Amino acid sequence: MSAAVITVETQTDFSQKLIIQRPSAGLSLQGCIRVPGDKSISHRALMLGAIAQGETEIQGLLLGEDPRSTASCFQAMGAQISELNTELVTVQGIGLGQLQEPVDVLNAGNSGTTLRLMLGLLASHPGRFFTVTGDSSLRSRPMSRVVRPLQQMGAKIWGRKGNSLAPLAIQGQALKPTHYHSPIASAQVKSCILLAGLLTAGKTTVTEPALSRDHSERMLRAFGAELSIDPDTNSVTVIGPAQLRGQKVIVPGDISSAAFWLVAGAIVPGSELVVENVGVNPTRTGILEALELMGADIQLENQREVAGEPVADIRVRSSRLKSCTIAGEIIPRMIDEIPILAVAAVFAEGTTVIRDAEELRVKESDRITVMAQQLNKMGAKVSELPDGMEITGGTPLVGTDVDSYTDHRIAMSLAIASLVSTGITTIHRAEAAAISYPDFTTTLQGVLST
Ligand code: S3P
Repeated sequence: MSAAVITVETQTDFSQKLIIQRPSAGLSLQGCIRVPGDKSISHRALMLGAIAQGETEIQGLLLGEDPRSTASCFQAMGAQISELNTELVTVQGIGLGQLQEPVDVLNAGNSGTTLRLMLGLLASHPGRFFTVTGDSSLRSRPMSRVVRPLQQMGAKIWGRKGNSLAPLAIQGQALKPTHYHSPIASAQVKSCILLAGLLTAGKTTVTEPALSRDHSERMLRAFGAELSIDPDTNSVTVIGPAQLRGQKVIVPGDISSAAFWLVAGAIVPGSELVVENVGVNPTRTGILEALELMGADIQLENQREVAGEPVADIRVRSSRLKSCTIAGEIIPRMIDEIPILAVAAVFAEGTTVIRDAEELRVKESDRITVMAQQLNKMGAKVSELPDGMEITGGTPLVGTDVDSYTDHRIAMSLAIASLVSTGITTIHRAEAAAISYPDFTTTLQGVLST
């Protein structure tokens, strides 16, 4: 018996095919792995470092393409950021309100977090003019969710389709504080408004329908901003103008990246994996709760707090999974993990129902349609719901040609599905994984065992 054969083929358009041939028997996953730094925390460390007074040191930064986009945007506005690496990145902050007018268009690449969070800062820099854009995926994603509340604060922003699509042009203004009731639980919306509130005299409050990830709140406090949080109403208030001082940030491993190994370990028979140093902030651990509901054998070990964020090592052993229903407040706490949860559901007994997840339709791709189509191509039984999916487990998957639609989380979810499919799976445009997990294929090779 041999391990799975994994081949990467680079095409003339520089896209990559990831070809995975599972052996007919005997494959399991074993080992102890580390996943790259948390994407959300990496963006915020670079941004707050850039606008704080003094030096910020970042350990464990994600070297994916998304944080690179954030770094290059803030460098173009005057921040000095050392060469990006995982050991130690230093950011010489230029001070709140001191972002320089860039001489060219700011390019956020594929990164919604870069564009939406940055917009709050740009809109609140009086007298400066900015233009921002992104790749074709980002240029089709809705920006009105941040443009509207910023306009409520007096921001001047222009863009296509009623100012809702990038490229956007921003004429910075002195903004007025607001209390924004967001119709969606979105950390990008919440963080955009809080960042705009940093430079705005008075109290700026955001209330959301359910709690989204709270990394901005934790880091803003650590950098010295005055914040009040009302957990009963999911409201956060920032008092401006704020004073931010550079800090030491230690970025934990990204639970969204760990999720691929947790599902892989659960569904590939005979597997046991430990993913070390994973951020387990309760606003991000919906995936652990969902997998536990499905009967996955998952244990948190060595739980600790590192630089204001809870961290643990997570052990997973394969087990028989059963279906579950997930909806409501858990969804924003696992929004990026739903594609890989869908893969787990394909190998679970019964019908898994995912609801209240319409936000998936406006991610890097329409993750409901794309996951349903690609898994069905492999033989799964997935039907689309307007706000989720219904997945009936138990049908065997057969390797075939599938496509990531240039979405990093789809590429990696399909790679994990291929480990439990017969024959050869070819994932087109698999290079997308580098957005959040450049070493994904190398780690996959490392954990394969026979
Ligand atoms: C993020 C928030 C989430 C998530 C994205 C990162 C963040 O987006 O999907 O990958 O870092 O704030 P929404 O705010 O749109 O839910």
